[in-house]
Amino acid sequence: MRKLLSVIVMAVGLPVCALAGQLVPVGDIPVPADNPQTPEKIELGKKLFFDRRLSGDGTTNCGTCHDPEQGLGDGLEISLNYPTTRNWRNSPTLIGVAFQKQLFHDGRAASLEEQALFPMMSAFEMNQNLDYLEEEIRSVPEYVAEFTAVFGDGDVTRQRIAMAIAAFERTLVSRNSPLDRFLQGDEQALTPEARQGYAVFTGKGGCATCHYGANLADDRFHALQVRENPEHLKDPRIAATRRFVAKVSGFADYRNLAEDPGRYLVTKDRKDWKAFRTPTLREVAATAPYMHNGVYATLDEVIDFFNAGGGAGNGELKPLQLTEAEKRQLRVFLEEGLAGEPIDFSYPKIP
Ligand code: HEC
Ligand code: HEC
Repeated sequence: MRKLLSVIVMAVGLPVCALAGQLVPVGDIPVPADNPQTPEKIELGKKLFFDRRLSGDGTTNCGTCHDPEQGLGDGLEISLNYPTTRNWRNSPTLIGVAFQKQLFHDGRAASLEEQALFPMMSAFEMNQNLDYLEEEIRSVPEYVAEFTAVFGDGDVTRQRIAMAIAAFERTLVSRNSPLDRFLQGDEQALTPEARQGYAVFTGKGGCATCHYGANLADDRFHALQVRENPEHLKDPRIAATRRFVAKVSGFADYRNLAEDPGRYLVTKDRKDWKAFRTPTLREVAATAPYMHNGVYATLDEVIDFFNAGGGAGNGELKPLQLTEAEKRQLRVFLEEGLAGEPIDFSYPKIP
């Protein structure tokens, strides 16, 4: 009972309790009761995450597009892809992904366990057949021994593969940043300039209306009218990917679709047209380029976007009239304040 209780307490950790607009330090991560974290499971998940067997042509692992050297994204405007195809969105960082309740830029997956199978199956990402993958992993004796140790028997299923990967992903947390220490009462943890930036972030800039809680994200979707990435118009392979995703999402006029409809693809509700999920800002200095389509290369460009009141015609943001000094303070806060202790990325030995 006590164990069960502690799982429940972890599952409703800080971000759920956080009041809108309020920043809180990173605490316990939420863990689903039916996939508890164990060191062996995390280690198995890490191996699978970096195993190229997960892709159809054996060239790509999850770390190709979520690279620890690139802030757990891939550093490109539009993410990498399966050979001969092109991706259509920016690869988001996996930092703090344990806190996200809806995954992907449009929120179409509800858990890390559910999400992990999508890239493996995606025609333009890993293009793997899951029936084949199960047999491929099952043919490796070291893996069978590890599945037995973690799950009680050596059966290799796609669900277990996803559970182990999800357990590993939950460890990708930015901890003990200057902001965390500041929020815990250490005034000096933020430099004077970063402290002024914190004041802009939570005050005149209005950033904390959407970027709040431990993960600095509200788990909601906003149509800020970020400009299109010109690559979308130039590259017919991106058009093919866009139409393909729209088609499998049940978008009737998918062949005439010329832009990314965002959350609309999931809800089919006009108010969600081109709405995208608020991303985490943890480690944001390391996760350029920015936005769902990577159109902004630097934090200065993002700050200018918000200062101008967002993209043309959006109904959510107002011009901020920040001074040059305030813009600089905001950038210093984002860069210095949200950079935590380095996460330990000892690469596993793949069996
Ligand atoms: C070819 C590049 C590529 C590969 C390989 C890849 N991803 Fe991704 N990943 C992306 C892109 C692009 C998105 C955003 C897609 C979207 O929002 O529609 C994404 C989104 C995600 C998200 C959602 C993050 C969030 O903040 O919502 C998770 C979690 C994730 N990937 C995990 C994985 C795992 C696990 C693997 C391996 C099984 C993997 N990815 C392989 C490119 C890739
Ligand atoms: C109305 C809600 C809202 C407000 C207010 C807001 N943001 Fe955002 N922010 C978002 C959304 C949604 C995105 C993602 C847009 C996209 O992907 O197209 C975003 C993206 C970002 C990004 C890019 C992160 C990445 O990894 O791509 C940064 C940096 C950022 N915001 C900082 C700020 C700052 C600084 C402020 C205040 C000046 C601010 N935001 C105010 C909702 C908001």
